[in-house]
Amino acid sequence: MKHLTVVDHPLVQHKLTLMREKDTSTASFRQLLREISLLLAYEVTRELPVTSKQIETPLCEMAAPTIEGKKLVLVSILRAGNGLLDGILELIPAARVGFVGLYRDEETLEPVQYYFKVPKNLEDRTVIAVDPMLATGNSSAAAIDLLKQAGAKNIIFLCLLASPEGVARMKEAHPDVPIITASLDEKLNEKGYIVPGLGDAGDRMFGTK
Ligand code: URA
Repeated sequence: MKHLTVVDHPLVQHKLTLMREKDTSTASFRQLLREISLLLAYEVTRELPVTSKQIETPLCEMAAPTIEGKKLVLVSILRAGNGLLDGILELIPAARVGFVGLYRDEETLEPVQYYFKVPKNLEDRTVIAVDPMLATGNSSAAAIDLLKQAGAKNIIFLCLLASPEGVARMKEAHPDVPIITASLDEKLNEKGYIVPGLGDAGDRMFGTK
């Protein structure tokens, strides 16, 4: 898989435009995120290994394709990751789920872990880490560090928007982790927001602020 894939499907781009608009309501934002996450899940799972199993249709036997290996693991990077997670779980209901919580230390500006819970046998599974916004890339890179420490070897990072700075940071820290996004935006501003972006994804999906 390429290091960066931008999903430029018309439906994804249309829904993303609606999400970016500042007057989009919390309810619509959440619904759109759910819909877009289904389309992104389709893309993120495109290269999963497939094997075949013998089945019987009403007419005959056949060797039919089925996804190989252990169940996928979805890891939500709290809190905004939960918005993407919900939609993806609709499409992949048997996936295992993990959570990573990080906050930024005000003095060192480094990400600090406050929650970490992931399924067992990460080393044998494809892990899809989800966070809508790849901004500075610091917390995403730290979350991937934690997943690797827990044994994950095959990780894909899925986001809605990425900044060039975030992509570069991830490429430096985790060149083996492909990134899938709906858009590579222009830049980060001085406050660390993605521009043009969509604002604070967590605030917009949960109606906080
Ligand atoms: N996190 C957000 O929610 N939005 C940004 O623009 C950057 C980080």
